[in-house]
Amino acid sequence: MNAIGTLGSHCALQVLKGAKDEGFKTILICERRREGLYRRFRFIDKRILVDDYRFEYSFSENVQNELHDNNCILVPHGTYISSMRIEEIEGIRIPFFGNRWILRWEADRMLKERLMREAGLNIPRSISIDELDGSSNGNGNGNGNGNGNDKANSLVIAKLHGAAGGKGYFLAWDKESFMTQYNRLVSKGIVKSIDDLYIQEYVLGVPVYLQYFYSPLSKDLELLGIDRRYESNVDAIGRIPALQQEHSGIDEISYNVIGNSPLVLRESLLDEVYSMGERFVYAAERLVKPGMIGPFCIEGVYDQDGRFVAFEFSARIVAGTNLYVNGSPYSYLLYDEPMSMGRRIAREIKIAIGSNELDKVVT
Ligand SMILES: Nc1ncnc2c1ncn2[C@@H]1O[C@H](COP(=O)(O)OP(=O)(O)O)[C@@H](O)[C@H]1O
Ligand SMILES: [Mg+2]
Repeated sequence: MNAIGTLGSHCALQVLKGAKDEGFKTILICERRREGLYRRFRFIDKRILVDDYRFEYSFSENVQNELHDNNCILVPHGTYISSMRIEEIEGIRIPFFGNRWILRWEADRMLKERLMREAGLNIPRSISIDELDGSSNGNGNGNGNGNGNDKANSLVIAKLHGAAGGKGYFLAWDKESFMTQYNRLVSKGIVKSIDDLYIQEYVLGVPVYLQYFYSPLSKDLELLGIDRRYESNVDAIGRIPALQQEHSGIDEISYNVIGNSPLVLRESLLDEVYSMGERFVYAAERLVKPGMIGPFCIEGVYDQDGRFVAFEFSARIVAGTNLYVNGSPYSYLLYDEPMSMGRRIAREIKIAIGSNELDKVVT
């Protein structure tokens, strides 16, 4: 019998609950300090305690041997990307559910942009530091690959690579405002050079996170849920009127995710949501063999005309799926039973084992 395992953080509860519901043994690699939390949940069969989630602890020889002896399949999530280098993740000897090679395309914003472009997604213009005094203020001098707006937005967002969790990201409107904030990050030791930042046109609109699952077995794309993120402190600023904001001394914003809330879209938008997901799957098939397997998320903003601009993707399960541990409005349209993303993963593994096609869903 196989076990399903993951690191104790992010969406571990949902993933292991889903695995248990599908009849698997469940394994949690768990930081000692978090053991108290995870002991509360009876669907976790085995906890492997480690000092922290850096690679040398969480995937030491001993841990990997133990996972191997338990026939474990790992489910990667955001904590892998934020606490380990991509080479370390790629080198783990235990099979991953999904395409482990695509995680590199998630973590590197240049590769990420390439994959989104290949998928024909409408993406914000990426902006070089030299353009900041000109095109970002509206003279249209950019790389021309933007979201198609003739009038460029005057705000840009600077982000770190990897799943940095939105900390250290900032908004700027010209070179001077950019440099002031960049220098602050340098002095705090958060970045070392301009290359550590990726600058993108800021798109004003409603942020939406689309949770997909692609099955290489049935070749079907499923939309299993949609969420919004509740990000601090940026979601707090709108609670203060502009005058008070000016006098509040707030000079740093952050997009640190605190939680998620559910969202359903206007039904007329759903057709495009499916076609974007399908284009993403085809693009991944072309660029990152063996293509997209299982959960992924396209993240973007609907502008005032209801146009979707995708600012990034996650090529694995996202924590927003935790909302739907008992199924979502969209999963219920597809399944007559509660189907969380975690359970859907376990179901795919179960089907693959049953038809002797496990190699199609793990790497
Ligand atoms: N181009 C953009 N326009 C508007 N908001 C953005 C843009 N890019 C990112 N954001 C906001 O910043 C947050 C974090 O950015 P994201 O690219 O998703 O980085 P991360 O990899 O840290 O999740 C998003 O959830 C969204 O709120
Ligand atoms: Mg994101």
